[in-house]
Amino acid sequence: MKKILFVCLGNICRSPAAEGILKKYINESGLENEYQIDSAGLLDYHEGETYDPRMIKHAQKRGYDLPGTSRPFVFSDFEKYDLIIALDNEIFNSLKALDKKNKYSTKIVKMIDFYSNKKFDGVPDPYYSGASGFELVLDILEDSCQGLLKKLSSDDSTKHQK
Ligand code: 4NP
Repeated sequence: MKKILFVCLGNICRSPAAEGILKKYINESGLENEYQIDSAGLLDYHEGETYDPRMIKHAQKRGYDLPGTSRPFVFSDFEKYDLIIALDNEIFNSLKALDKKNKYSTKIVKMIDFYSNKKFDGVPDPYYSGASGFELVLDILEDSCQGLLKKLSSDDSTKHQK
């Protein structure tokens, strides 16, 4: 079982959407027993709240369910998860800073590195944007989740060849 954690700032917009999209792709590929997927935020400001209703609405229109509530990233997540995916560069740098002893550095990656287009250097925070900001986030996340799924499948087939 491979464990994947998406991390953004508030855990109400970007990382829950990434979680919902990847879960759908994983289910459609029949791989749901091989992966555990979760999301968290660096802030505890929205802890226990349901996700941003704007994100839920835009995701639902594309067929993604976003149940669940916001929870903050905790240090033990470094140990628990195999892959910790930062939604933008600030999140990436903050996670690296939390990992003071550089023990988990190979697990911490950027979501945008799975994106097929070089137009953005991170997934933009939609919190203060209008509808188009949420649509853009979903566009980038759908593309990046496809890239991530390809990478996961190719890592897995290499593992089985060994
Ligand atoms: P997210 O968006 O990191 O994609 O969940 C945000 C949500 C809330 C805040 C910032 C970003 N906030 O400052 O409350």
